[in-house]
Amino acid sequence: MIKNITAVHGMHDYFFPDTLLWEYIENTIKRILKNYGYKEIKIPILEKSILFKKAIGEITDIVEKEMYNLNDRNGESLTLRPEGTAGCIRAIVEHNFFSSLNNRLWYNGPMFRYERPQKGRYRQFNQIGIETLGLESPYIDSEIIIITSHFWKELNIIDDVFLEINSIGSTKDRKQYIKKLILFLEKNFHLLDDDCKRRMYKNPLRILDSKNPNMQELLNKAPQLKNFLSKDCIVKLNKLCDIIKLLKINFSINYRLVRGLDYYNDIVFEWITNKIGSHKTICGGGRYDKLVKKLSNKTNISGIGCAIGIERLILLIKNINRIKLKDDYLIDIYLVPMNDNLALYKALFISEIIRKKFPLLKIVISYNFSNLKKQIVQAIKQKVHFLLIIGEKEINNKQLTIKDLLLNKQNTFFEKELITELVKILNFKT
Ligand code: HAM
Repeated sequence: MIKNITAVHGMHDYFFPDTLLWEYIENTIKRILKNYGYKEIKIPILEKSILFKKAIGEITDIVEKEMYNLNDRNGESLTLRPEGTAGCIRAIVEHNFFSSLNNRLWYNGPMFRYERPQKGRYRQFNQIGIETLGLESPYIDSEIIIITSHFWKELNIIDDVFLEINSIGSTKDRKQYIKKLILFLEKNFHLLDDDCKRRMYKNPLRILDSKNPNMQELLNKAPQLKNFLSKDCIVKLNKLCDIIKLLKINFSINYRLVRGLDYYNDIVFEWITNKIGSHKTICGGGRYDKLVKKLSNKTNISGIGCAIGIERLILLIKNINRIKLKDDYLIDIYLVPMNDNLALYKALFISEIIRKKFPLLKIVISYNFSNLKKQIVQAIKQKVHFLLIIGEKEINNKQLTIKDLLLNKQNTFFEKELITELVKILNFKT
């Protein structure tokens, strides 16, 4: 027996009506982004591996364990992008694209991480990312947060998410802190779990957001990053908090929030929800003022951005079931030719005329040719609103019959009156 070929583990197919919700979410977010002056950038899915190593950091989970690497035919190591910021900055630097006119960008598309698949965590997932370049002020940081809160309001999930903010300080601040943290961890080595032991020298900051409650308890006694922040970083964090408080956006400071990518400095943040299981972050981001310099050696351009995980957003929206999309009539007009000869030809011809006149309607031809009763049953299943019947009688008399399946009313009229008749019954949709 032939075994079915299945999708790659952790990579999913999405069907209607999930795709309808997906489209609605993307369109809502894109509309708001335009409203804030953001422009789209399209970047490749495949990049040179060195890009991610440099940008995200060699000693991060993503680069160490999660990248989909492959060698092309020339032996060059390439990677399926695990995130969009690195490619976005690479593109800007490569094309010298940066200017004050082009400093607000967004992208949308699939990312790939070889993680253990679970609900809300996939090996292929989609992000909408936004990046703001060359602007450095708590006001621009707050703009990113305002935009994201605007998304949640429009998507009717603002009460189901909460914002956590932190400052991870400058490189210098973190270096000083890490020294002290390692000393503490060494003293308590026997209490560490395997994950923390592994990270202790490689990426000790990541221990701070360990999910293990025992580690969290231990960390209560550890030196705190907030006590190592420079005055400048504290001022920026406080200013940002003041601005978003004024804007009435609820948030809390989570001093243990560090994020999993090495390019961040100063402000980091995450939008979290308790309604989708253990992978709670629907959007994460922060400031990355040294990334352009790291990737270009030329100039330094500061940056801040974030990315939204679309699948997690969909999980949340579906779980709380508050958005009702208008799919009541999946098909507006269903043309039913009663034979596959002249009636079918007519259906093809007429459907084109209707589509041209009513480009927003969903118009489908039935290729069933079974008896009308059966066709009506099928049409009801498919949520058809109007049947346009082309039977023998109609052809002989140059007529058409339209049947409103909702009101259970039908009307026969001359073919030449088709558009007038449709305008009359559909005028609310034109
Ligand atoms: P990130 O936190 O790694 O940040 O990913 C952003 C979002 O993508 C997460 O909050 C989550 O919603 C979603 N996500 C991440 N991994 C998975 C997964 N395996 N399955 C499903 N969803 C996932 C970044 O990627 C940064 N580039 C964000 C950024 C932009 N920072 C500055 N600019």
